[in-house]
Amino acid sequence: MKAEVIAVANHKGGVGKSFTAVNLAAGLARGGWRTLLVDCDPQGNSTSMFDPDDDVELDLYDLIREGAPVEKVTRKTRIDGLELIPSTLAVAKLDQELVTMHRREERLAQALQPIYTEYDAIVLDLSPNLGQLVITALNAADALIVPTDATIWGRRGVNMFLEWSAALREHQVLSAQLLGVLLTMYDPRTLTGRETLNGLKSDGLPVFGTTIPKRVAAEAMVTNRVVIGDVEADPDLAEAYANFTVEVMTLIDTARRNRGKHHA
Ligand SMILES: Nc1ncnc2c1ncn2[C@@H]1O[C@H](COP(=O)(O)OP(=O)(O)OP(=O)(O)O)[C@@H](O)[C@H]1O
Ligand SMILES: [Mg+2]
Repeated sequence: MKAEVIAVANHKGGVGKSFTAVNLAAGLARGGWRTLLVDCDPQGNSTSMFDPDDDVELDLYDLIREGAPVEKVTRKTRIDGLELIPSTLAVAKLDQELVTMHRREERLAQALQPIYTEYDAIVLDLSPNLGQLVITALNAADALIVPTDATIWGRRGVNMFLEWSAALREHQVLSAQLLGVLLTMYDPRTLTGRETLNGLKSDGLPVFGTTIPKRVAAEAMVTNRVVIGDVEADPDLAEAYANFTVEVMTLIDTARRNRGKHHA
């Protein structure tokens, strides 16, 4: 079976995309799904969670631009069942360089195609922009997760991002199912937090039942390269991301069953 390609995307910066991509990927792997995490952001935040030594030889740039074989670009991580395609600053050049490449939207999907059956899920961590690499990554996706911080501007940002992505759908560049909006950095004691959650629902958007609490400990997890399933993980964040992972697995299983019926 083909891996489910899950894009974690939002053009708003600092909303927890990378933290979510990394912990979802770790959660899926620890739940028994063979998982590949693809860092599609030249900031390399997902990469640095698993590749602390900065000794990346081949990265997403080499895969997409130089035609490096995908097996050579893929690296093991310390977590069983989780592999990584890293990113370095070179990936920043892709936004410009893809523009002149033939069938640019399909480049990531084509590059990953040889290994599609080797994984159950491929998680894409996207950059905070609406550039060509984001478009190319969205084109490869079967499923879309949009994290947002629990603020008024966060809610506005989600709606703007989805409006922009609707144009990609019209042009058949994007076909991914919106799995849901994930509320991150959520504090249910604040009015803004509660209003954002209710606002997103009243916008008619699918919102994950799990919300991710705002915890200072997130920063320590990043600093110490800790993910869910590690004993050092913050218990509240670990519980939230574990529940979120189960939600994602269930939604994907359902989507796959429906697609199966559709094709039957
Ligand atoms: N639930 C949380 N509570 C508190 N802080 C968080 C939480 N999740 C993530 N953070 C912190 O917020 C910061 C931004 O998170 P992250 O890098 O995942 O966002 P991003 O959307 O990927 O950012 P960018 O748009 O730059 O790629 C990180 O420093 C992280 O430690
Ligand atoms: Mg990020």
